[in-house]
Amino acid sequence: MSESGRDSFIVWNDDYSVQFRAIDEQHQGLVAMTNDLLRGCRQSGAAADDIFMKTLRGAVEYAQVHFYTEEKYMKQAGYPELESHKKEHAAFVDKVLETVKAFEEGEADPFDLAVFLKEWLLTHIAVSDKKYAPYLARMK
Ligand SMILES: [Fe+2]
Repeated sequence: MSESGRDSFIVWNDDYSVQFRAIDEQHQGLVAMTNDLLRGCRQSGAAADDIFMKTLRGAVEYAQVHFYTEEKYMKQAGYPELESHKKEHAAFVDKVLETVKAFEEGEADPFDLAVFLKEWLLTHIAVSDKKYAPYLARMK
């Protein structure tokens, strides 16, 4: 796998940090799972499909726990954009569940799905999550 381009793995760096340890740790967990998916969709065969599906389900569950955690902290911090941020999370979960269903029916490409997860995660962290960072920082 090349080190740049659509199929490259995510390498965590401090630019992704929201300066809040509990959230950074969960983001790192999501990065690791996304990398597992990128790796997994390069394998082929029924066993590889099973592993991919299992990893994907785990990632969706973990993402939901993570969103719940983020929303709890944003609420505690009195973050004014909580509602629109929650909508972004909900739209993401809907889209992923829809794609998982399509994948199960053989109508979605695992690579496209893994790349979508990667791009969404990095954009969401860099843009939307960074916006709440100053509010969470004040809670420390
Ligand atoms: Fe978020």
